[in-house]
Amino acid sequence: MEVAVLGVGNRARKYLSCLPEGVRVSCLVEPEEIRLRQAAVRYGVPEEGCFRDAASFFAVPHPEVRAAIVAAPDRLHVPLALACVERGWHVLLEKPAAIDDEGYISLMEAADKAGVHVGVCLELRLHPFFRRMRELAAHLGPISRIDHEEHIGPDRMSHTFVRGLWSQKAATGPIFLSKCCHDADFLMWLAGAGKALEVESSGSIERFRSDRAPEGAAIRCIDCPLERTCLYSAVDLYRRRGEWTGGFDVPDGLTLADVIESELREGRYGRCVYHCDNDVYDTQTVTALLEGGLRINMHLEGTSGREGRVTQIIGERGVLTARDGRLRLMLDGHVNAIEEDDFSSLNDVPLHAGADAALVHDFLESIECGREPAASLRSAYPGHHLCFLAGE
Ligand SMILES: NC(=O)c1ccc[n+]([C@@H]2O[C@H](COP(=O)([O-])OP(=O)(O)OC[C@H]3O[C@@H](n4cnc5c(N)ncnc54)[C@H](O)[C@@H]3O)[C@@H](O)[C@H]2O)c1
Repeated sequence: MEVAVLGVGNRARKYLSCLPEGVRVSCLVEPEEIRLRQAAVRYGVPEEGCFRDAASFFAVPHPEVRAAIVAAPDRLHVPLALACVERGWHVLLEKPAAIDDEGYISLMEAADKAGVHVGVCLELRLHPFFRRMRELAAHLGPISRIDHEEHIGPDRMSHTFVRGLWSQKAATGPIFLSKCCHDADFLMWLAGAGKALEVESSGSIERFRSDRAPEGAAIRCIDCPLERTCLYSAVDLYRRRGEWTGGFDVPDGLTLADVIESELREGRYGRCVYHCDNDVYDTQTVTALLEGGLRINMHLEGTSGREGRVTQIIGERGVLTARDGRLRLMLDGHVNAIEEDDFSSLNDVPLHAGADAALVHDFLESIECGREPAASLRSAYPGHHLCFLAGE
């Protein structure tokens, strides 16, 4: 099978590393020259298969292409996926599948009309911990309420949503959509829930704004007298710990250490978190009543020092809790009805604990077998729809 890849950044490279034998990358579309060149060498894509922009890629026919991976920035998902679907290609589409309801529905209709599969990259559905959570939740009977908290964590929050490419709503979309579409999708899918009927949402920027800067904080971490004690120090994150540097491109003749130093001195990732141009919320609470009567409460927290999700699901027959990689099922009125599973060691397993590879394999198999992918556009709609409403 021949595939085209649109947007060869961090996510696409992960999916490409999971492609099985027999799947060939015949086209790459990527505006950043260095990324395009490095990927072309790595995946053996000839010059004529490399495109710096989508318009020139779509201007020529590609009869060999059967499927596309769309992993470009969020606002391009619908236009790029639509163009692929209209050519009769199956699409593995990064989340969020769309940034609004209108775009989502137009893509869903176009895919149905073309008779192709669009699989959305919602890894939680294939993640071992969350799969087990869904299995255990099946013992609860009808679910009446879900409470869910997502702590983004200081490293991800500062790198991605304050300094990084998801810090401005106009460039990406609301943070609840970017970050919590995984959660809304998974929880609603687990509960077999329908669309949201009523949504209340409130959010704000509580911490990452200039009037909350500690006294004496400099504009860049590298110049800051408080850097050694700041939870959000870029010097600590990139130079000392070497975390979150996978997205830094290293031009020929330079090293990663050179690129980090240049980011710290003059790049977006060296800026003080209290002096950035972020406008997405760092805390948001969403409460929804869903078709069928289920209530779901979700809280996104970008200011706490911890990272991870905490979930409690209440059903007719008991309660399931999930936190810190542990699952605990308590069934009412039964002796020995507590089941505990510990998945905390999975935190160290790369590629979302194997879920990225599972997603790619599932997508390819769905094409071969003519069945829906694990997270089809239609099945992922209720979760996205809730996020669109919460974002509004
Ligand atoms: N599934 C997940 O868990 C997960 C995690 C992180 C990000 N994402 C999503 O994956 C997508 C990509 O994120 P990323 O972290 O790889 O970002 P990235 O910036 O590393 O990659 C995006 C790439 O798209 C390229 N691009 C820009 N305009 C383009 C165009 N017109 N045509 C083709 N390519 C274009 C960029 O140059 C960049 O290389 C985003 O939509 C993001 O929300 C998903």
